[in-house]
Amino acid sequence: MPKLTIDGKEVEAPAGTNLINAAASIGIEIPHYCYHPALTVVGNCRMCLVEVEKAPKLQIACNTAVADGMVVHTKSERTRAAQRAVLEFLLINHPIDCPVCDQAGECKLQDYYMDYDLQESRFPLGRKNHKGKAIDIGSSIMLDQERCILCARCTRFFDEVTHTSELAIFERADGDKIDHWPGRKVDNKYAGNVVDICPVGALTEKEFRFRARVWYLHRTPSVCGGCERGCSIDIYHHRGRIYRLKPRENAGVNGYWMCDEGRHGFPALQSETRLAAPLVQSRDRMMSEPWDSAIRRAASRIAEAITTGGGRSIGAVVGAQSTNEEAFALKRLMSETIKSDMIAALSFSPPGSSGDDDLLIRANKNPNTRGLAALGLDDAGLQRLKEAVTAGQLKLLIVMRADLVRALGEEDFARNFGALDYLVVLNTDANETCQMANQVLPIAAYPELDGSFTNFKGRVQLLKQAFDPPGQALSGIEVIARLSAALGRTDSPRSAEAIFGAMASLEPAFKGLSLARLGPHGADLAK
Ligand code: SF4
Ligand code: SF4
Ligand code: FES
Repeated sequence: MPKLTIDGKEVEAPAGTNLINAAASIGIEIPHYCYHPALTVVGNCRMCLVEVEKAPKLQIACNTAVADGMVVHTKSERTRAAQRAVLEFLLINHPIDCPVCDQAGECKLQDYYMDYDLQESRFPLGRKNHKGKAIDIGSSIMLDQERCILCARCTRFFDEVTHTSELAIFERADGDKIDHWPGRKVDNKYAGNVVDICPVGALTEKEFRFRARVWYLHRTPSVCGGCERGCSIDIYHHRGRIYRLKPRENAGVNGYWMCDEGRHGFPALQSETRLAAPLVQSRDRMMSEPWDSAIRRAASRIAEAITTGGGRSIGAVVGAQSTNEEAFALKRLMSETIKSDMIAALSFSPPGSSGDDDLLIRANKNPNTRGLAALGLDDAGLQRLKEAVTAGQLKLLIVMRADLVRALGEEDFARNFGALDYLVVLNTDANETCQMANQVLPIAAYPELDGSFTNFKGRVQLLKQAFDPPGQALSGIEVIARLSAALGRTDSPRSAEAIFGAMASLEPAFKGLSLARLGPHGADLAK
C-alpha cells in the first residue's frame, strides 16, 4: 500500500485512493464540492486544490491518487490562497439568500466560507448576475439557479445513476445555469437524491421547503420500512414529528441513495388514523379502555380458549412490518406460554405497488419478510390457520402489524376467519382488520421503537427509537410481555436488546449476532 505524508502525518491508503479520502482517513478535511464517491470525477469546482511537493502547480485532490513518498500540504499558504480565491469566485454572483434558504445550517458555501474564506466581498451587490428562482423542475424538486455553483453533481446523478438525464447545464460563462430540457421535466423514482447531494441550496424538496430550520431537527439513524431492501436512512424529527428522511450510506444495502417512495412515505407513519388507546368492541362500537383492563381482557379470553380447546385453539399472524424482536417475542409467547404452533407470517404488498427495479426498489413492500422467514415464519402457514378455523379448532386469533382483511379481501376473510370467536389486533393504525376486531391494542411505528429488520439479502439492521409513540401506544414487545405476564409468565424480556439476545441463543439464523454489535451498517444472518 502506498505510504504518504499529509500535513506532516503519515498515512497508508490502498492504491487508487484519492487524496480527499486518504486525508479523511486521518481526520483531515479537504474541502470539496463536485467530488462525490458514487459519481465520476469531473474536477470542475477546484475547491479541493492542495499543494503536492515536487508538483509544479496545485493539484485537485479529488483526481490525484495516493503515491508512495508523496508529501501533501492542505493548509499551506498556497493552498489557503487557492481556497479563498475559489470561494470568492463562487460567491461573486451568489445571492444573499441565507436567511430564507432551506440549506442554511447545512450549506457547504456557508461552512467553507467560515472555515476557509472570511473575506469581505469585493463585488458590488448591485452588479450580481440574476437567474431563475423557485423553478418547479418536476418530481418533488424546486430549483434556484442563482444559488447553483455548477458542480454538476445533479446532472451526473441523472446521467450515471438513473440514466434519465433530465438536467443539463445550459448557456456559457456567467450566464450558465442548470435547467431541465424544454418540455421534459425531472421524472424518475430517485429524483430526491439530487437534493441530498446538491452542496448548496439550489435544489430543495417541495415537501420540506420552509417547514423547519435544520438546526432544530434531531437525526436518528434508522432503516426505511418501505420495502424489503431496507435502505439505511436518517430520520430528521422534532417534537415527535418527522420532517424528512434522508439516505444513510451503507455499501452493502443502498450505497448512498434511497427511492422517492420511501423518502416521502413518512406521512403515513404519523397519520390521523394512528391508534392512541386500547379499544374494545362494545355493542358494535369500539370503546377505549385503559391498558390494564385491555391486557386482562385479552389474557382472560386466551386463558379461556386454552381451557376449553387447548393451546392450538389460538393462532397468530405476524405481519412482515414487525421487527425481528416482535416476531420472536410473539412466536415465543405462542410456543412457550400458550403452547401453540399455529403461527404464520403475512407479507402483503398493496395492489398497484411498484415492482422490482435495477437500483433499489423491491416489489415486496415489507421490510422484514426475510427476518420472519429466518424465524421459521412464512405465508404458507396461513393456509393451516384457515383450515383450523374452518374446522372449528382455532377460536382466537392474534394479528400483529398485518391487515389480514385487506390482504385476503373481505369475502375471503369472512369465509376463512368468520368463525373465529375472538380477534385481537396489535397495530399502529385503524385498518380494515381493526374494524373486525374484538380488541385493538395500539403499538408503536418503527421510528418509535428499538429493534431490527432483516432485509431480503439477510442483512440485519438496527432501528433506534427516534421519539415516543403517540398517546398510550406501546412497543409491540412491551404489549406481548404484558400479555405474557397476565398469563402467568413474568420472566419475558421487555427490551429489544434482551429479546435479541434470547433470539441469538435460540434461533440458528441469528447465532453470533447482538443488537449492540450490529453497528451502523448491520450484519449478515448466520449462513
Ligand atoms: S443544482 Fe446543485 S448539484 Fe446541481 S450543479 Fe448546481 S450546485 Fe451542483
Ligand atoms: S428502495 Fe425500499 S427500502 Fe429503499 S427507500 Fe425505497 S422503499 Fe425504502
Ligand atoms: S472536488 Fe475536486 S475539483 Fe471539485
